[in-house]
Amino acid sequence: MPRCGTRSMAEIHTSFQSINKGIDWTLLPARLYEKGKRLGTWNPHEIDYSQDVKDWNAITEAERNAMLQLVSLFGAGEEAVTLDLLPLVKTMAEEGRLEEEMYLTDFLFEESKHTEAFRRFLDAIGCHEDLSQYHTPSYKKIFYEELPGAMHRLLTDPSPAAQAEASVTYNMIVEGVLAETGYYGFRKALEPRGLAPGFRRTIQLIATDESRHIAYGVYLLSRLVAVDDSIFQVIQNRMSYLMQYAAGVISELTASYGENPPFAFDPNDFMQYGIRKFQGRMAVIERARGKKIEELYRLPAEEYEPEVAEMEQAAT
Ligand SMILES: [Fe+2]
Ligand SMILES: [Fe+2]
Repeated sequence: MPRCGTRSMAEIHTSFQSINKGIDWTLLPARLYEKGKRLGTWNPHEIDYSQDVKDWNAITEAERNAMLQLVSLFGAGEEAVTLDLLPLVKTMAEEGRLEEEMYLTDFLFEESKHTEAFRRFLDAIGCHEDLSQYHTPSYKKIFYEELPGAMHRLLTDPSPAAQAEASVTYNMIVEGVLAETGYYGFRKALEPRGLAPGFRRTIQLIATDESRHIAYGVYLLSRLVAVDDSIFQVIQNRMSYLMQYAAGVISELTASYGENPPFAFDPNDFMQYGIRKFQGRMAVIERARGKKIEELYRLPAEEYEPEVAEMEQAAT
């Protein structure tokens, strides 16, 4: 905290990058910002859910229940990441990382739209009940405690280790493992029978935005590791600690399906998918060890998140 009569560095400006030396459009965050302006401006309010409403009334009670359960996890998850991103934006602004802050404004706008999108779907199908009944202990541990705790800690401790723990929680576990496994579940449920075309389009657009968010998170973690290799251990420890709860979210969800899972879901398939995502993220971050920071700045987005290009094609 600043002493009486003094100002912290965040409270005064001594220069302005955009007119002093320019914006580095080749940096990964600047390139993600460009993609975000082009791809992240879809309007959740314009998605047509008329066929979805018909499908909703035609599927079984168990299938409706399974969908509501997934939507309750996702909708609250999107709201949590909307509420909890600001400390990271503030941290990057205070470090003078203009390109990263500019991208993070795209990022936050997109999370707000994802929150909107799930609520609009629930409104369209006429669901107004309190869905927090579906939140299991592992889900609450991550979304009610660990995510806000790690993100808001940055307000008082913006150290590289705290940034790494925040990004692992937000980008690697919540977005990179849980959200990705969730899309997989929605696709498995709806695609084979061509159900809910409006909602499937929503999920596809959200997943495209999320692929950029994950690319940013992997970039941030790689940058921290390239500057200080000891951060890799911090990341590994945090990943292992949170993975037990992420696995808990998946197993508690699938345990509720009982003997005859809806949509012929295979609980083992979900868990294997989540574990593969987890391992893939770790492998990419490990590649940053010993790399020069300049090299990391210029890598294509696909090096951080292979799905960026694929999702981009599917969304346009
Ligand atoms: Fe999101
Ligand atoms: Fe996201």
